[in-house]
Amino acid sequence: MALPAVVPRHIAIVMDGNGRWASKRFLPRIAGHQQGVEALKRIVRACAKHKIAVLTVFAFSSENWSRPAEEVSGLMELLAMALSKEVSQLKRDGVQLHFVGARETLSDRVKHGFDSAEASTAENTTLVLNVCFNYGGRWDMVQAAKRLVHAGLAINEDSLARSMALAHCPDPDLIIRTGGETRISNFLLWQAAYSELYFCDVLWPDFDEGELDIALQAYASRERRFGKTSDQLAVGTLPA
Ligand code: IPE
Ligand code: IPE
Ligand code: MG
Repeated sequence: MALPAVVPRHIAIVMDGNGRWASKRFLPRIAGHQQGVEALKRIVRACAKHKIAVLTVFAFSSENWSRPAEEVSGLMELLAMALSKEVSQLKRDGVQLHFVGARETLSDRVKHGFDSAEASTAENTTLVLNVCFNYGGRWDMVQAAKRLVHAGLAINEDSLARSMALAHCPDPDLIIRTGGETRISNFLLWQAAYSELYFCDVLWPDFDEGELDIALQAYASRERRFGKTSDQLAVGTLPA
């Protein structure tokens, strides 16, 4: 008997397909990224409505620095604009913001923006929103191991998990990737150990509440066994 996974506590999304969305319309790629911000605003509201506790989104990977300089600077500009325009509404909506990733190489303007957005939303409790920016799963494992070595602590699964950049959240129950590719692209390598994966062809700027509902339905039909057998799960659902 399938044990329904019901509503995920933590959803993570690889927001892919912005460039193709723009190319299809003969627009510059940055126009796709701008529409991607609008899609993110929609999905933040939808997650709050569905009482999802945590939403983690992949906004810029460690590898995205290899894109053309014009696209990288356009993305940095878009980030700075979003930080100045969107944080006050997110604050009113009860969203607790976290920026996850290597900060050293980011501009002072962006670093200050991250610090002030995190500080001003720290008391919010409706939805935790982790924005992975200059993030890679391999970076996270290395920085966690370095922190433990520096503190002279033993490296084991518990201590590593506690040192990871997403230690403030449970592991994602559901990872969605839009845009048609079926790969992880260095997202949440550690935390995805038992996540349900959902891939869809919809390009991120077209992703909306209806598409999220379809992903949630797919999730609800999965049986999460965590290494056990179906029979063991069925026994676990019987009243004591
Ligand atoms: C995802 O969309 C956003 C970032 C990686 C910043 P893409 O820009 O990768 O869009 P496609 O995959 O080229 O369509
Ligand atoms: C993954 O998308 C990173 C983000 C969505 C931020 P990419 O478009 O960079 O992934 P690849 O290069 O197709 O694997
Ligand atoms: Mg892409």
